[in-house]
Amino acid sequence: MSENSSSRRSGFDRRAFVAGVAGSALVPLTARAVAQDAKAPAAQDPALPVDVTLRVNGKDKRLQLDARTTVLDALREHLKLTGSKKGCDHGQCGACTVLIDDRRVVSCLTLALAAEGQEITTIEGLATNDRLHPMQQAFIDNDAFQCGYCTPGQIMSALACVKEGHAGSDADIREYMSGNICRCAAYPNIVAAVKQAAPEIMKG
Ligand code: FES
Ligand code: FES
Repeated sequence: MSENSSSRRSGFDRRAFVAGVAGSALVPLTARAVAQDAKAPAAQDPALPVDVTLRVNGKDKRLQLDARTTVLDALREHLKLTGSKKGCDHGQCGACTVLIDDRRVVSCLTLALAAEGQEITTIEGLATNDRLHPMQQAFIDNDAFQCGYCTPGQIMSALACVKEGHAGSDADIREYMSGNICRCAAYPNIVAAVKQAAPEIMKG
């Protein structure tokens, strides 16, 4: 389905929306008045639903979303994948970390529309059949959690940390995992878990 046809069907024009947002942010008031006199197309209501196809854990998921929906809300509220947690909702805690095309991102600050056409991997996509991913197993083996709320984000971030080549020392792991906050302070055990899983993950 082309972007144009889906936009027409939902009554939402992405270009007009982006132009409308950019216009409100950048154009001074005087220039805006001139633009309105020139009968520029009105910005469209971002609450109108947009057709979006997200590829999550290897499967395409078709959704109709408010254009402002984040990846985190699309996962939790629309796809009922509640493994990714909402902590701060401001990009500060890392609880919502997922992989998008193998890069770790805070899904609370990533628009679902921007993730269309990319591979989203969540904590639910790591285990294969009955076998836990080595990083999941390492977190269990090392008691790397207490309440567990931060754990899905920690595991997704840890996986990327290893693949980025940043798990060579305790100091590196601490540095490159510093965006993931643990209120229970399980940090020493998290470092131990990352060190345990790293060799197996690097073997592929
Ligand atoms: S919920 Fe996304 S960084 Fe805290
Ligand atoms: S285990 Fe409780 S916040 Fe990390």
